[in-house]
This record gives sequence, C-alpha cells and structure tokens, in this order.
Amino acid sequence: MSSPALSKEGRVFDLLPEMIFILDGKSALVDYNKSAVQAMGFESAGRHPVSMREIVVPPLWADFEGTMKNGAVGSGHETRFVKADGLEIDISYDVRLLQAPGTTYVVVIAKDVTEQKRKELEYLQFSNVIHYTINPIQITDAKGKMVYVNPAFERVSGFSRDELIGKNPNILNSGRHSRDFWGKVWNHILSGKAWVGEVENRRKDGTPFHTELLISPIEDAAGTVVGFLGAHRDLTEQKILERQLLRSQKMESIGTLAAGIAHEVGNPLTSISSLVQVILRTTTDEFTKEKLELVKNQITRIARIIRDLVDFSRPSTYVVRPTDINQTLREAWNIVQYGKKVRDIKVELSLAEDLPLLDVVPDQLSQVFINILINAVDSLEGKAGSIWIRSSAHGNQVTVQIRDSGKGITPEHCEKVFEPFFTTKEVGKGSGLGLWVSYGIVKSFDGDVLLQSAVGKGSTFTIVLPVKGPA
Ligand SMILES: Nc1ncnc2c1ncn2[C@@H]1O[C@H](COP(=O)(O)OP(=O)(O)OP(=O)(O)O)[C@@H](O)[C@H]1O
Ligand SMILES: [Mg+2]
Repeated sequence: MSSPALSKEGRVFDLLPEMIFILDGKSALVDYNKSAVQAMGFESAGRHPVSMREIVVPPLWADFEGTMKNGAVGSGHETRFVKADGLEIDISYDVRLLQAPGTTYVVVIAKDVTEQKRKELEYLQFSNVIHYTINPIQITDAKGKMVYVNPAFERVSGFSRDELIGKNPNILNSGRHSRDFWGKVWNHILSGKAWVGEVENRRKDGTPFHTELLISPIEDAAGTVVGFLGAHRDLTEQKILERQLLRSQKMESIGTLAAGIAHEVGNPLTSISSLVQVILRTTTDEFTKEKLELVKNQITRIARIIRDLVDFSRPSTYVVRPTDINQTLREAWNIVQYGKKVRDIKVELSLAEDLPLLDVVPDQLSQVFINILINAVDSLEGKAGSIWIRSSAHGNQVTVQIRDSGKGITPEHCEKVFEPFFTTKEVGKGSGLGLWVSYGIVKSFDGDVLLQSAVGKGSTFTIVLPVKGPA
C-alpha cells in the first residue's frame, strides 16, 4: 500500500484543528491531515506512517483495534499516541464512518488532551486536599455568598453544608468584631491581597469558636476577582488553655503579692493591736474606751483578711486525712444556717451514698463549702428561694454542686469572682476574698471550681475533687 499523499493542496480537512486520520477497514492509513502531521511531528522526523499501529502506544493497541473492529462510531474514546520524538500524549477521539463507492472508510478525529488531563488531575488533587484537610475551609463567590464548605467547616461550625451554601459568611458572625474591623478586611482583600487574622465566630448553637483565618481572593486568568477562599485554623482549644493558664498565673502572682503585703502589714498591725489593748486596760475615759472598741473591731476585720491572704499563699500546715465529703457538706450547711438566720429558703440535699473518702484537710474543705453556701444565701437577697446541694462520684472524681436560685452573675463578672477583693457587696458586708480563698484551697487538693450562672435565674458552683489512690 502506498503512503498517503501529503502534498495535496487545498483540502478542507487540512484546515481543521483536530488531527484527522482516514483508515481503510483494516486500520491501514489512507490519509491524514496537516494538524496530524504537525501534532505528531511526522514532517520533521521524515516519517510517513502507514498504519495506526505506528501511532497508538503499543499497550493500548489491542484496545484501539477493538474499538475500530466493533465499528464503534461515537465520541469521547480515549487512548494515547506516541509522537515521532517518542513522547506520549493523551488523546480523546471520535469515530465516524465515511461511505464511498465500494468501500467504507473509518475516520478518527483526535484531540491532544494531555494538558487538559494534567489540569484535571491537578484539580482533583487540589480539591481532595481542600475537602479532606482538617482545616475548616469556605469558598465564596465574588459577592461573598458561600459556594463551598468542606466537612471540617461543617464540623467546627455546627452548620450543615445545605444550611451554609448560598449564605453570607456573616451567619457565623459573633458580633465581637466591629463593622469597622470587617470593613478593613474587605478593603484589604478587594485590593487583591490575602488577609490573615484571628477571629471569633459563633457556632450554630451560639457558642463561640476562635480561628486564625486566612482570606485570599481567587482570580480568573484575566485577574478579575471571582471569589474568595477562607481557610481557618481552629484555635478554640488553644484559647481555653490560654485562659486557664492566664487565670492560674494571675492567681499565683496575686498570691505572692498578697503574701508580701500581708507580711508587711501584719507586724505593724500587731503593734497597733497591742497598743489598743494596753490603752483599753489603763484608761478610765469612757469616750476613749468606746472609740477604742470600734478600733479593735476594725483591727479584727483587717486581721481576718490578712489571715485569709496568708492562708491562700502559704502551704497549709493542717493535716490531710480521709474525709467524708457528705458529712462536711452537712456540717457546713448547719453552720451557715445558724449563722445566717436563714428563712424562706428551701434547701434540697441530694448526696450520693457511695462517695469514697477523700484525702483533704477537713477544716479547709468545710471553709470552701461555707464560703460558697454563704454566697448562695446572699444571692437570694433575703427573698424566698432554693438552694440545692448535690454530691456525686464519677470515675476517680467526686463532684459537689451548690446551686442557688438567686440573682445570678453577669458573664463579665463570672471571670472576676475568683479574684481577690472582687465584691459587689456593700462596704463592710463582703471583702471579696471568699471565692478566691476557696479556689486556692480546692486547687491545692488538685481539684477545680467551675461556675455557671444566668442573671436572674441563679448560679451553680461545681467543685471537682480527685480521688487519689494510695501514694
Ligand atoms: N451564688 C452567687 N450568686 C451571685 N453572685 C455571687 C455568688 N457567689 C459569688 N457571687 C459574686 O461574687 C463576688 C465575690 O464573692 P466572694 O465570696 O469572693 O466575695 P464576697 O462574698 O463579696 O465577700 P467575702 O469575702 O465575705 O466572701 C460576690 O460579691 C458576688 O458579687
Ligand atoms: Mg463570699
């Protein structure tokens, strides 16, 4: 068979961009167009293939031949060709039949899709990374409507994909950042630059979650912004740890400071106290006596505060012994009940029977319960209400909950109530040391005090204490 004539001029199929091969019924090449010659590099290599067998990569030949034999007229078949220089390219081809007098030719119309395939693969890899990364990711269109969120984003935000697609990302807005803040972010990204910063968002259930957010504009080939990519790094856990660390560091430094001050104030106070006693004993002047009694009372008050301060910061010298928590709770409530002249308060004790004994200093723990119970009574402000006292054991922890139906604590104050000298009580009524000392004591037993409160509804103080095995 002769090789196809390559020099014929003015053929229409030479004008087409696709490679076109015309085959007789047995895959022998009858003709092919200019695009085929160029794309396969035949001309420069001086090659004149006579069969498709020289063009299709050998491992795929059987497959290609099969397609031809079955007369599979149709589109979108795939194979690979080997060019004259040995390079392989990905091909997508259509098959058509050309009826001529006496024979039927097979026409293969082929397109080099190597680049397209590479891009598809790249896209697939990229979208898999985005989809399965642990970082929450959202993509919006140019108007800021969400068009994609990954599973990590659904998990962290608590919203499902369907609830997010088509919405503006401000559905997660915690209200923590000013309009001005977001205005600046928008200006920044609209100028084509990426923005990175820490943001506080809100989950579906209303709880906050902190992330480091990177927003970068997505541009098309012409440089027009067609959307935005938002990639988050979840900082919630880190924020909680930071806050805990800050709290314990603060307590520690305040403790050191307080101990110092208590020490400095303690000595002169002892002198003043002795002097007052001396004058009280020696004077006969009633006016002086009366005023000195007042001075004595105030000194007692200062001394109590100082004792609290020192107690907090000095390691306890009391003895640790196995303690029945329920009994300590009952005794504490009795003390508060008599001391506070409790009326109109309904008390409900629900104490778990199977509590293990805990190695603590009973007097100190009772001080903790008394402080918290006094606060609970105070929170009712003389009105009728309830106090619940509950104990329970889970795993190697004992939990005591003291709940009141009192006035509650605002979220800002919840952060502060454990600080020394924080009080909302009238001068002379509270020193603001009760919770601070209690917190210090519970921490010294490796426990923790947690607070939940709602203004107008009441507060719950939860004391968690570890059960320690034999050392
Ligand atoms: N159960 C509660 N309900 C409402 N507010 C509370 C409750 N417990 C504590 N607080 C708030 O926390 C503040 C600090 O409590 P804390 O026990 O440390 O000090 P205090 O009661 O003011 O003074 P004291 O040193 O006499 O205990 C209180 O002044 C009050 O505002
Ligand atoms: Mg108190």
